[in-house]
Amino acid sequence: MAMRTLSSSTIGIAIVAFWLMGCGLTAAVGAPGHYPNNSGPIILSNMNGMQAYILPIGATIQRLIVPDQRGMAEDIVLGFDDATQYQTNNTQYFGGIVGRVANRIANASFSLDNHTYNLGANDRGNTLHGGFNPLFENSTWDVLEADSTHVKLRFISPDGAQGFPGALQVTATYVLTNDNQLQLDIEATASKATPVNLAQHTYFNLNGEASPLNVLNHELYINGDYYTPVDFTQIPTGQLLPVYGTAFDFTKPRTIGSRINEVTYPPPHVGYDHNWALFGLGMDAANKTHIGAVSNEAQLAVTLHSPASGRYMDLYTNMPGLQFYSGNNLNGSTVGKGAYPYPVYGGMALETQVWPNYLHEAQFPQSVLRPNEAYHHKWYLRFYTKPAAAAPALGPSSVAVKNAASVKPAPAPGL
Ligand SMILES: *[C@@H]1O[C@H](CO)[C@@H](O)[C@H](O)[C@H]1NC(C)=O
Ligand SMILES: *[C@@H]1O[C@H](CO)[C@@H](O)[C@H](O)[C@H]1NC(C)=O
Ligand SMILES: *[C@@H]1O[C@H](CO)[C@@H](O)[C@H](O)[C@H]1NC(C)=O
Ligand SMILES: *[C@@H]1O[C@H](CO)[C@@H](O)[C@H](O)[C@H]1NC(C)=O
Ligand SMILES: *[C@@H]1O[C@H](CO)[C@@H](O)[C@H](O)[C@H]1NC(C)=O
Ligand SMILES: *[C@@H]1O[C@H](CO)[C@@H](O)[C@H](O)[C@H]1NC(C)=O
Ligand SMILES: *[C@@H]1O[C@H](CO)[C@@H](O)[C@H](O)[C@H]1NC(C)=O
Repeated sequence: MAMRTLSSSTIGIAIVAFWLMGCGLTAAVGAPGHYPNNSGPIILSNMNGMQAYILPIGATIQRLIVPDQRGMAEDIVLGFDDATQYQTNNTQYFGGIVGRVANRIANASFSLDNHTYNLGANDRGNTLHGGFNPLFENSTWDVLEADSTHVKLRFISPDGAQGFPGALQVTATYVLTNDNQLQLDIEATASKATPVNLAQHTYFNLNGEASPLNVLNHELYINGDYYTPVDFTQIPTGQLLPVYGTAFDFTKPRTIGSRINEVTYPPPHVGYDHNWALFGLGMDAANKTHIGAVSNEAQLAVTLHSPASGRYMDLYTNMPGLQFYSGNNLNGSTVGKGAYPYPVYGGMALETQVWPNYLHEAQFPQSVLRPNEAYHHKWYLRFYTKPAAAAPALGPSSVAVKNAASVKPAPAPGL
């Protein structure tokens, strides 16, 4: 299938949309896709041709348009044209913020302050991404602020929703900067003690969202020395294993496809769907985190690069874990934008979060939010390109990237 690009008429519509938005908080009118009840995206844009379409449903990144090495702007995230698909049919969790506790909780229950709470068992006896409805990602968030460079959305998850204690008020603020960062800050407060672990669940394909190339050609660097092995139902065993020399070793950039065929457990799907301990954290991680966060500032967690498009993406976070999911379950049955059926490995998620099943593993980082405390999760993307056929000796910038990808955690400059 041919790569799709934004036509000039679409860009013209977007410009009209910004003008309309300047008159109030009205969502953009006329953006491509189908948006009932004024549920259309808020469109952020910058001086370099980047655009982010943020939907109030699920605080979702519907489109993320990023220039490639030739300056061609393309959408690089999987999703739907029709906003209602995010609400009713988003079985792959494309684009939104998942919660109240992202990832899995064993046996669909947990104990907190001497009470046991039962949740929806929506994943082989366990809870995945909070359980059954109402889900974070298919509720419509309130738009509190919006202009052409930022949007702030709010969602209140009621006391008892999905079985969790306390009302949780969440804000998600997206900012698009002129140095090609898309920054997301997720903040939450609670009326009673509750576990909180919110995660952005966008699927990327730096070749282009509908490219015939899947993500196996992407070079990946992960700033993590250990991962949490899982059992048959993807619940962590409680161990931390070193990645060195294994198929989980992305401490130096390596293509995702180079060893993916070794990642066969648990069956039936082949590929990555595992949590990395970031920033050198080990079994002392619980002592080094506070309400989930390992630091106030976002640190470099991931560098992703498509040699085909020349796009690079850095991901910075203050969370202790990264669930890297290589789109193993996609099989063409989910039909996305432009009626494109997403194939296996057609997109990949980089979910920063607290380690899965932490509520049953006291030595894992913990994230329980109590009244008068605040949860703050940073998920910052930075995009840039380099010439495709860059010879190693071309200049200091290509060397700088190699070095940047092999150093230990460093504060994100300017974030
Ligand atoms: C649009 O809003 C109306 C009134 O609130 C509601 O009845 C209807 O179900 C909504 N439609 C969609 C597609 O959400
Ligand atoms: C939310 O998504 C689930 C799963 O796709 C679906 O069953 C449910 O109907 C959706 N909720 C709403 C309010 O549409
Ligand atoms: C979940 O249930 C299984 C089977 O009863 C049990 O072996 C396991 O210890 C339970 N896990 C937790 C975290 O309670
Ligand atoms: C939980 O129960 C233990 C033993 O009864 C008690 O000492 C402790 O104070 C209780 N904790 C809370 C938060 O209620
Ligand atoms: C965590 O801190 C507690 C209290 O200071 C200490 O007892 C425990 O040994 C520490 N755990 C690890 C794994 O460092
Ligand atoms: C494809 O994936 C869907 C949803 O995950 C699943 O229901 C379906 O059985 C899969 N089809 C095949 C042929 O594996
Ligand atoms: C849900 O998605 C599937 C595959 O993308 C599509 O075939 C089906 O028509 C959708 N269902 C609804 C109710 O829109």
